[in-house]
Amino acid sequence: MDKLIIKGGAQLNGDVIISGAKNAALPILCASLLAETPLKLSSVAALKDIDTTLKLLDTMGVKVTRQADEVTLDASEVASFEATYEMVKTMRASILVLGPLLARFGSARVSLPGGCAIGSRPVDLHIKGLQAMGAAIHITHGYIQASTLHLPNRRLQGARYYMDLVTVTGTENLMMAAALADGTTVLENAAKEPEVVDLAECLNKMGAKIEGAGTDVITIEGVEKLNGASHDIVCDRIEAGTYMVAVAMTGGEVTLLNARADLLDAVIDKLREAGAEVTVSGDSISVKSDGQLKAVNIRTAPHPAFPTDMQAQFMALNTVSDGVAKVTETIFENRFMHVQELQRLGADISIDGNTALVKGASHLDGATVMATDLRASASLVLAGLVARDETVIERIYHLDRGYEHLEEKFTALGANIRREN
Ligand code: UD1
Repeated sequence: MDKLIIKGGAQLNGDVIISGAKNAALPILCASLLAETPLKLSSVAALKDIDTTLKLLDTMGVKVTRQADEVTLDASEVASFEATYEMVKTMRASILVLGPLLARFGSARVSLPGGCAIGSRPVDLHIKGLQAMGAAIHITHGYIQASTLHLPNRRLQGARYYMDLVTVTGTENLMMAAALADGTTVLENAAKEPEVVDLAECLNKMGAKIEGAGTDVITIEGVEKLNGASHDIVCDRIEAGTYMVAVAMTGGEVTLLNARADLLDAVIDKLREAGAEVTVSGDSISVKSDGQLKAVNIRTAPHPAFPTDMQAQFMALNTVSDGVAKVTETIFENRFMHVQELQRLGADISIDGNTALVKGASHLDGATVMATDLRASASLVLAGLVARDETVIERIYHLDRGYEHLEEKFTALGANIRREN
């Protein structure tokens, strides 16, 4: 299994190009199931989760062609409406095929995701939303079995649905399903994440009638069919945020290209509060830092508040900042897996419920640590970049799920980082 070896202490300088967002690409790849003609996508990053999704779509009969960051998906001859446990257990986002399959083909069989490293993460709201649209859903043998065969013309029926909790993939699944439903669907308390907006824009190019994406009420007037379109995936705000925190910690000056500062307000505010200089010009963001940072309190919440996917990276930042920081996680019940590993590097962190108290130290010391989930892994890379001597990060397949060319990008900025098998 691959591991990363980082020798800490190098400043980061130069430019880095931000890739297309994983969390926008995954639902949009699944949206190809809704279209009768090919969907052409660009800025599709080379990531393990993207490979997994393409493999899943391929097993269903979607014809996939991929060249560099361009992917064409032809779902004109879909033959299977199933996502097996084997697929879903490796990637929870596989649940995103449920809405499209049901809406277009009237039938879907998708494995329940089960547990994952950062909490139980149920999909009850996806299911209740589809039931509100008239779907018959049974859960048997660990599978969600969904059908519309009893409905007029086998079509889902537009409905008004209030989500008890803000759910990103839940909103996306229901938006895709509603796009082909009979009548108008109103999703209330919808997720406002930029990836939801990107999906809505792509669906509208395919012929959908969606309004309000990016607000907490999304209105979808169902249409009878959708076609392919061309769409460029929005840039990855979490990848961008991760590089910004990296340079804030190591010191130096880095410009992010193909980035969207307007999607990163909460993160940029916190970086400035910590003492980094952030300047924005068009689609580039520059971060300058002398590496001397102040501790900053963090509280995660749905967009536009501070993203849970940046919590672990800011925890790493706080371990070497001046002062004491409170980091509160409100989205996931068990998202402090990185704490134990950061402690192995010498970080002073104590946990009380969903809050971690981080006391900044003058330095971290390199050690061997283990990556536990995607963003936890990123926080270990950041810690390794500033730790004394060598940090070895094991189980880095998590990083390959979500960070395109991570070592290459960091090496180009001056980091001392290499992959070993
Ligand atoms: C998405 C992102 C993930 C990010 C998260 C929160 C993708 C592929 N993944 O995950 O990177 O960390 O949003 O921004 O886009 N919940 C329920 N019932 C449901 C659905 C969710 O109780 O039916 C709960 C979850 O357990 C969690 C909270 O709602 O506590 C938010 O989860 P959700 O927004 O659904 O996360 P994902 O969409 O899985």
